[in-house]
Amino acid sequence: MRVFFEGSAYSVGEGESVLETLIRGGANVTFSCRKGTCQSCMLETVRGEPGEGAAKGLRSALVDAGMFLPCCAHPTRDLEVRRPDPAKLFTRLQLAEKEWLSPSVCRLSFEPETNLDWKAGQFVNLRRSDGVVRSYSIASIPEEDYFLTVHVKRIEGGVMSTWLCDELEVGDAIDAQGPIGSCYYDPADSAKNLLLLCTGSGLSPLYGIVRDALRQGHTGEIHLFHASKTADGLYLRDELRALAREHAQLRYTASLTQQADLPEGVVEGRVVARAFERGPDLAGWMVYLCGIPEMVYEGRHQAVLAGAARADIRADPFEYAHPYQPDDSRKLAQIAPDPELWEALERGPGLMRILTSFYDAAFVDPRLAPFFHRVTKQRAIEQQYAFLADLFSGRRAYFGLRPFNAHHWMIISDELFDYREAAMEAVLRAYGLSEPLIRRWAAVHELFRREIVKSSARGMIIAGVEQAMAPPERVVVELPCVCDGCEAEMNVGETARYHAHGGQLFCEACAGVPSRSRPPPSISP
Ligand SMILES: Cc1cc2nc3c(=O)[nH]c(=O)nc-3n(C[C@H](O)[C@H](O)[C@H](O)COP(=O)(O)OP(=O)(O)OC[C@H]3O[C@@H](n4cnc5c(N)ncnc54)[C@H](O)[C@@H]3O)c2cc1C
Ligand code: HEM
Ligand code: HEM
Ligand code: FES
Repeated sequence: MRVFFEGSAYSVGEGESVLETLIRGGANVTFSCRKGTCQSCMLETVRGEPGEGAAKGLRSALVDAGMFLPCCAHPTRDLEVRRPDPAKLFTRLQLAEKEWLSPSVCRLSFEPETNLDWKAGQFVNLRRSDGVVRSYSIASIPEEDYFLTVHVKRIEGGVMSTWLCDELEVGDAIDAQGPIGSCYYDPADSAKNLLLLCTGSGLSPLYGIVRDALRQGHTGEIHLFHASKTADGLYLRDELRALAREHAQLRYTASLTQQADLPEGVVEGRVVARAFERGPDLAGWMVYLCGIPEMVYEGRHQAVLAGAARADIRADPFEYAHPYQPDDSRKLAQIAPDPELWEALERGPGLMRILTSFYDAAFVDPRLAPFFHRVTKQRAIEQQYAFLADLFSGRRAYFGLRPFNAHHWMIISDELFDYREAAMEAVLRAYGLSEPLIRRWAAVHELFRREIVKSSARGMIIAGVEQAMAPPERVVVELPCVCDGCEAEMNVGETARYHAHGGQLFCEACAGVPSRSRPPPSISP
């Protein structure tokens, strides 16, 4: 059985998804979660059927247009696919109302031209006619508000936000993709306590989520913290205070970080510092984090330290268009030694036993093992031991790569990161570490989520400069040799691909994705 894509045919291996087949074959596809959540891998069927479950979670209009998610597709017959026609991914939204909520935040309410099912807190990708696309989170509840509403913070010099705030007029229409994302209220959580942290227009999704929870009869406590640098970034204060008066379970705290004279009812301080100042125990809580990425990742770290389960954290960092510059040196320098944890690990032997069981499991885990196909288990254990022993004991003898560079080429989703951490925690519990020590260990890993999670490969960063990804070079074999992927012999005069950064030479069949554990893929152009 084969998948045809952009002029090539790819044989589908036993148990493989269409996405795995295409990646293994070196096709230029986009993807992130590999699990049917992010929708970034979406393709369109030209001929054949992608199989059951391949369109799970897609809007019905997209399913009708032939879209499917290759990461969830296991076809039973030949399938021809193509990149989706962008026109089919977007719906039109007409601007119905526009109102400034503060000097820097504008509320835009849209009427969708086709039926759109959203949940407050999800986001849409808005696209201007020249192709500029940016994400905006939804503040409104379809059942109550009718319009799809977003709060846009006007950023001086920002391409999209200034255009939306200053130029888009009532009656104008704009293309939108979505709704996307899992940052929303689930009525199954109605008895849990909610902690919601946001900065600036990060209030947009959380305003929707808080109102949605109240509307659906939430019985747990709800703690909403909103911070801004200056007073003009705080908005909807009267509405939120009124809501808190009406609902005893809702607490609302507004804080400012860079303003000396505080308006009445507003406190001083960063949102994370305010929310965690009383050292809450968050076991069993739901945590929502939206707004500037620094706050979102710091909030995640604190929430894990306070005992929140990773699966109960919903976060949308408002990432900007430019790539993240890792900050792992500073983070590593700030981690204080943990003598109690180090003692519980018998000053080393316990850590070694934990890592041995963890990597024994990771090396046969279907989702983790593929990352390790060119690393020995011994090396993985030793490097990880040296890294963690340094942090916990306070000695400084680790000279391996820092987290960003160690994982520079790995595409690791938030969900996969959580999966790895859950596996790690299971090993720590089996070892008998106490819950507070497990939380502290997990919080150290959590600090590096932003260095490790990404949806496409990055170059290593050396002396602050990201090394450009040189595409594999086609070369002619000059001496008989063996392919670094499948170990097949290569003869003089054959063409091969040379990966300069790793110094590896691959035969044409390996298409640049080396694997010692699998037979070479068969590709016929
Ligand atoms: C999932 C998601 C949801 C989002 N939801 C919202 C939302 O509900 N409301 C909202 O207003 N925005 C939201 N954003 C951010 C939004 O998508 C844009 O990044 C933002 O509006 C800036 O776009 P721009 O074209 O105006 O700026 P650009 O032209 O892309 O950037 C111009 C300059 O401004 C800087 N910059 C960008 N963003 C910020 C910022 N927030 N603070 C300070 N400097 C900045 C950039 O580094 C750059 O130098 C969200 C982002 C994501 C990823
Ligand atoms: C899903 C999550 C993760 C995956 C799939 C993953 C995978 C890997 C792999 C394959 C390597 C070997 C790289 C090589 O030697 O070439 C590695 C190394 C390493 N990882 Fe991870 N990792 C994950 C999460 C983490 C986390 C959370 C931490 C801790 C913060 C971490 C710390 C390290 C360190 C310190 C190394 C050694 C770097 C070196 O080789 O010098 N990893 N990881
Ligand atoms: C000076 C910069 C770089 C160094 C020192 C470096 C080093 C390495 C090392 C040691 C490995 C592991 C290979 C193995 O285990 O045999 C690796 C793997 C990889 N690197 Fe880099 N790298 C660099 C730049 C890049 C860049 C810029 C990219 C592209 C974004 C890249 C993409 C990859 C990929 C895709 C892999 C996995 C391939 C495989 O499994 O062998 N590298 N790199
Ligand atoms: S939905 Fe397929 S990669 Fe995320």
